[in-house]
Amino acid sequence: MKKRVLITYELPDIAFRFLSRKYNVTWNKRQLTESQLVSKVKPFQALLTTLADPITERVLSAGPWLKCVANCAVGYNNIDLRAACARGVWVTNTPEVLTEATADTAWALLLSCARRIPEGDRMVRAGKFKGAHPLMLLGVDLHEKTLGIFGFGRIGKAVARRGRGWNMRVIYHQRHRESPAMERRYDARYVSFEALLKYSDFLSVNSPLTPETKGRFTAREFRKMKPTAIFINTGRGAIHREKDLVAALQRGWIYSAGLDVYENEPRVEKRLLKMENCTLLPHIGSATLETRNAMALLAAQNIDRVLSGRSPATPVASL
Ligand code: DGY
Repeated sequence: MKKRVLITYELPDIAFRFLSRKYNVTWNKRQLTESQLVSKVKPFQALLTTLADPITERVLSAGPWLKCVANCAVGYNNIDLRAACARGVWVTNTPEVLTEATADTAWALLLSCARRIPEGDRMVRAGKFKGAHPLMLLGVDLHEKTLGIFGFGRIGKAVARRGRGWNMRVIYHQRHRESPAMERRYDARYVSFEALLKYSDFLSVNSPLTPETKGRFTAREFRKMKPTAIFINTGRGAIHREKDLVAALQRGWIYSAGLDVYENEPRVEKRLLKMENCTLLPHIGSATLETRNAMALLAAQNIDRVLSGRSPATPVASL
């Protein structure tokens, strides 16, 4: 009998086509709640999930045949990793294939905030453009400024690499310092968290959400940043406290913010919606055709490897 795989949500169909050659695949097209997952999971050996699927202990314990949960995302904070490991279930993610697209999104936000692109777009569409004016929509320069990276993993490094094109100074902070060779390669300097706040003209959050990074940017941190600083988050929204970010933008503790992710996604702090000095995207960090296809295929390949008795290519923890 063919093994059974559940694809939990809409994805590029490459994953379905790849898996259905060998497996009995059920493709669910609507977002599932935790309770719906609990009631569906029982017959499946593998789940292909997205970051909005809560793969909790309840879900895992309702799937006695589960061998693999393949998340179609680099982040996996939606999955109870400890509970999965305890049951011998592989958890995999999709690193590397989305690095460049996500770094591009961070830069799109950075440029949008620095040069007030969305404001200009809104102005033209509203018929308010009455001719160029020397003082209209003045933004800030990027070249030769300091780009601060919080979380210097693959995506953080790709964001840093792009900074070279603008001749920026790159500083970074994370738990561990990179090797001198790596720092030379990216022309990046390790600094304390406090120095990152103090010296960054642009501060890009590129870390995963962990107990340590959760709520890392609060009023205390925003107050320590430059009043001209731009805060960008393409990691996970719960790394910043959204109410505090609103206060920072309203009170001028920082200049502007660019967000692709939100503290309580998909809910967005209402006051942000009315503010001109922030650019808001609907979590599209990795949303290019090529990247989403590569992510879906990698997730499907991980499932195939596990169900054929091998280790997955990109596990988030080894069993
Ligand atoms: C990820 O891969 O974690 C992204 O947030 C999904 O776009």
